[in-house]
Amino acid sequence: MAIIFHEESREFHLFNDEVSYIIGILPNGQLGQLYYGRRIQDRDSFSHLREGGKRSLAAYVFEGDTDFSLAHTRQEYPSYGTTDFRYPALGIEQENGSRISNFQYSHHFLFNGKKKLEGLPAVYVEDEHEAQSLEIILGDAELGMRLVLSYTIYENMPVIVRSAKYLKDTGKPVLLERAMSMSVDFSDYDYEMVQFSGAWARERHKRVRRLEQGVQSIHSMRGASSAEHNPFLILKRPDTTEDLGEAYGFSLVYSGNFLAQVEVDTHGVARAMMGIHPDTFEWKLEVGETFQTPEVVMVYSYDGLNGMSQVYHKLYRTRLARGYWRDKARPILLNNWEATEFDFDENKILQIAEGGQKLGCELFVLDDGWFGARNNDHAGLGDWYVNREKLPDGITGLAKKITKMGMQFGLWIEPEMVNKDSDLYRMHPDWILHTPNRSSSHSRNQYTLDLTRYEVREYIYERISSILSQADISYIKWDMNRYMTECYSLGKENRCQGEVTHRYILGLYELYERLVTQFPDVLFESCASGGARFDPGMLYFAPQAWTSDDTDAVERLKIQSGTSYCYPLSCMGAHISAVPNQQMGRMTPLDTRFQVACYGAFGYELDLNQLSDAEKEAVKTQIEFVKGHRELIQKGIFYRLEHPYQDKYVAWMCVSEDKKEALVSCYRILNEANQGFERLKLRGLEENSSYQLCEWLSAEDKTDSYSGAELMYAGIGLSKYFGKKVGDFQAATWYLKA
Ligand code: GLA
Repeated sequence: MAIIFHEESREFHLFNDEVSYIIGILPNGQLGQLYYGRRIQDRDSFSHLREGGKRSLAAYVFEGDTDFSLAHTRQEYPSYGTTDFRYPALGIEQENGSRISNFQYSHHFLFNGKKKLEGLPAVYVEDEHEAQSLEIILGDAELGMRLVLSYTIYENMPVIVRSAKYLKDTGKPVLLERAMSMSVDFSDYDYEMVQFSGAWARERHKRVRRLEQGVQSIHSMRGASSAEHNPFLILKRPDTTEDLGEAYGFSLVYSGNFLAQVEVDTHGVARAMMGIHPDTFEWKLEVGETFQTPEVVMVYSYDGLNGMSQVYHKLYRTRLARGYWRDKARPILLNNWEATEFDFDENKILQIAEGGQKLGCELFVLDDGWFGARNNDHAGLGDWYVNREKLPDGITGLAKKITKMGMQFGLWIEPEMVNKDSDLYRMHPDWILHTPNRSSSHSRNQYTLDLTRYEVREYIYERISSILSQADISYIKWDMNRYMTECYSLGKENRCQGEVTHRYILGLYELYERLVTQFPDVLFESCASGGARFDPGMLYFAPQAWTSDDTDAVERLKIQSGTSYCYPLSCMGAHISAVPNQQMGRMTPLDTRFQVACYGAFGYELDLNQLSDAEKEAVKTQIEFVKGHRELIQKGIFYRLEHPYQDKYVAWMCVSEDKKEALVSCYRILNEANQGFERLKLRGLEENSSYQLCEWLSAEDKTDSYSGAELMYAGIGLSKYFGKKVGDFQAATWYLKA
């Protein structure tokens, strides 16, 4: 790994064994992009990679010159209106109304390791030799500003991390209208854009479209990263598969409004950019102030989409997630929400917990409804005081009883919200985000507390830390169940209302940071009506997240597959719930529900006492299985197995890093009469090793052995396993040991 600055050609080359990223200083002092892709050998100059020339209707930078136009130049961090007419990375409104800027190279710093980002989540290093960083400082004297573009390249992963920082040094204050985290100009547009989109209960479905001239984008202006679009984008070549070919991933480490777009210009250059959504953002910069953008984690892969995902998994599992729980196997949890909703008392809860404890669950989680007057979703949010009618011994007493049973105790909170029917709202009606003299829209009967305000954050902090200090609580599910409307703050921290949505997220991060620091042993799981804020920003504080409120096994195949493109299995909350499924009304076999849910942070979301004796036995076996294999699942190398029958089968696989063991599952969604003889080809095994193949729940004791090569190239014949299964929604799982 190295970052080299070639003095003469004034070029930077960031490279490791897999990837190269080359930046050149342009004739006008701005930064140009020369190359981003598979590693190429370093040389003194790559200036030939920048081309120019006369084109009709183009505008040129220098008097008498018809070669250098920014419109024809691939740039690092482009601006609008000085010969480039594409979407820019930045926009600064100045006192005189001008938005023209000209940030020119001034100097740079090279150092080992990676700096923290002020107030923002970020990937990190544990040892400064894991990565090298470059800060390029650009200046615009007319604006009295500096711009710092930051880059980090990791030694052993094809990862480059980018962000930008604005500094206002002299002159009059300015308004930052657009401050993207990164921009990359690709020299052609022969790519497909892959996005992960959907809605509540069907989050992160993979969608693919061919790039075309014009702008294609995904975004959120909902105040959260959203269930509708994940802040993650892939550009892949049309023939790139799960296992072969080029792919570029862009993942924004942020939990609020974002824009991710690709603009294909008139000459076929594809400009990808990502950052805070400019349409809901403005930031006033006074002299002496700075503004730091969130960072984008860029992964380049020539080993297809699996190759790209595996890099994100490793990085996010070990260098984004933090703390005590980072490397720990996730406890098998039992959550009461789908079993009881708001209708419970201590007895009922203890019974459900005991049912789970007997079968081997390790953590009981009490969901919504334990506080204030929270007997339905119209009241109580904000009043974080236990409801003694339901829980006479309080949370402390309940936690004691549960831990005495031999299980850990966890609790649900939704600290960012308030119901109008609550003491908190009656006391502080001005604490919600709302626009003066206008009505406030409700969503799930609740309103968003203004986390930009210090006193609001203090209240929440005091409440949660007092609950956590008084009871033996090992886990917190931090929920957030509505998007922002009438977004306006009465808080004095906001110098202009365009700052509110971003300051909200900064407030949220600050609050989270204080709590995870004060309670380092507590496992935090983030949730937002399921997966509406499933993003790397949250992952920095909460190492797992509730993937979706939809626990139907078939729908989860899509959701968990989609989620796996960027996020590791260790962070994906995946539970077995009752049938018919609450969201879908679908009946799927318990065994299939298990084989889907075990690919994640596993648990149950039902009253296990309601199961038949045979089902209870099955649950016991499932729990034992997860306890024995969760290290492999949560830390193994994950593959989405691609095969020609995508409509019929989905298949997943986890291989241990040493390739000594693996788990493979194949799901047949709909049955078919007169079946063919399909084969499933495995991945990631050692060709010459012999693997014992042991089918999950197989009555036969004997296991067969096959070479890794045979399993990968000839595959497993599926008819042998699925032939004996009748009906839809069937699954088969094999454990492989070398
Ligand atoms: C959200 C969550 C659910 C549950 C309910 C409680 O919808 O996603 O898991 O916690 O809130 O109100």
